[in-house]
Amino acid sequence: MSPQSTNSTTASVQLTYDGGSLTLPLVVGSEGEVGIVIEQLRGKTGMITLDPGFGNSGSCRSAITFIDGEKGILRYRGYDIAELAEKSTFLEVAWLLIYGELPTRSELDVFSSSIRHHTLLHESFRRFFEALPKDAHPMPVCAAAVAALATFYQDVETEQTLNDAVIRLIAKMPTIAAYSYKHSIGQPFVYPQNRLDYASNFLRMMFATPAEEYEVDPVLARAVDLLLVLHADHEQNCSTSTVRVVGSSRANLFASISAGIGALWGPLHGGANQQVIEMLERIEAEGGGAEKFVDRAKDKKDNSRLMGFGHRVYKNYDPRARILKRSCDEVLAKLGIRSRQLELAMKLEEIALKDDYFISHKLYPNVDFYSGIIYKALGIPVNMFTVMFTIGRLPGWIAQWLEMRRDPETRITRPRQIYTGATLRSYLEIGKR
Ligand code: ACO
Repeated sequence: MSPQSTNSTTASVQLTYDGGSLTLPLVVGSEGEVGIVIEQLRGKTGMITLDPGFGNSGSCRSAITFIDGEKGILRYRGYDIAELAEKSTFLEVAWLLIYGELPTRSELDVFSSSIRHHTLLHESFRRFFEALPKDAHPMPVCAAAVAALATFYQDVETEQTLNDAVIRLIAKMPTIAAYSYKHSIGQPFVYPQNRLDYASNFLRMMFATPAEEYEVDPVLARAVDLLLVLHADHEQNCSTSTVRVVGSSRANLFASISAGIGALWGPLHGGANQQVIEMLERIEAEGGGAEKFVDRAKDKKDNSRLMGFGHRVYKNYDPRARILKRSCDEVLAKLGIRSRQLELAMKLEEIALKDDYFISHKLYPNVDFYSGIIYKALGIPVNMFTVMFTIGRLPGWIAQWLEMRRDPETRITRPRQIYTGATLRSYLEIGKR
């Protein structure tokens, strides 16, 4: 389905303003969402719209992911996230997002095999990692390494070289991620192993050493794969919009994805999963309990927020959080782990969900509330949580970037502003100021 396929409507809205009126056409998406097309607004009226944070602005038409935040719906290419979480795998979902349909058996085999055969990084990357400080956070390391891929693959952009870049990115991302971790703990890099599936390969590169093999527990590998599926796309969120904005200047795929990793790192976005664990640790260390922390999160004079709660789009519940909560229980039970932090998180959730402030502000647990607890149970270090999110979100970023590039409506992203600074004034010589 192309991003242009919107339902036709003859309906429009009438904008009246001092000195005139303008008819603005409407556009209706395949799930009935309606948008007011304002492309003619400035040309005809001299006015622009102002929408900080873009909460009311559509930046594109897209056929990739559908979210209904009020109903708690998330679908990739029409498939419900709960069904994909149960029946699919990360590489199949990656194909679905990027190419638009579920792959046939042979398509998936070829895709998986290409990914397995492009996992190695150029040996020069060793020097790249060595140049970075030992305590470097893995997120900027990943962003820099992905940007550096553009220096290794400088092909002229064609459909073939673009497809090669897509395969290379998905194949090398777990290697880059694991190397960024190994670098931070001073251990030698562990080369990828082509006989392993995507998640198992990543876990082995993280936890094996040249001195000791690491046997991948299939329960862990399946849990990682599920987490990747749940994070694979989320329409026009902050990092995806960043990828599209950068790509709209015709910057290459590696540079655009690197910028998206930077955006994802922020604590209000993907960085929240690390913040959730740090919040739980703080509550435990301070000993004040869940009630006290919930009070602090409500207090506008206190900077604390209940991390992992709230979402710009989901106002009822986040379907990913619901799946993760169940999976969290299952994984911890299978691994025989009792998590005090999970108990504390559940207590926080219980209190918050009954609290007037959280109810009236429509604040519910988001995907990050439980993902950190599972990562921790799986032995993933806290500073790698957002990197896990990066590996998961990669196919979504790629699909959105490709859609943007192929969309004839795409123009370089260049918002306007309402200027509020000084009006014209004369330069004053430095001695007279
Ligand atoms: N704890 C306490 N209060 C909150 C929280 C929270 N987690 N989230 C929002 N609020 C309050 C705000 O203080 C504000 O209150 P007010 O209207 O009385 O001033 C109101 O709810 C609206 O909050 P905004 O920040 O304006 O909402 P926005 O849609 O811009 O932000 C966001 C959404 C960033 C996710 C926010 O809810 C938040 O900071 N949550 C915690 C961080 C987090 O979990 N981020 C992960 C998001 S999911 C993801 O990126 C994968």
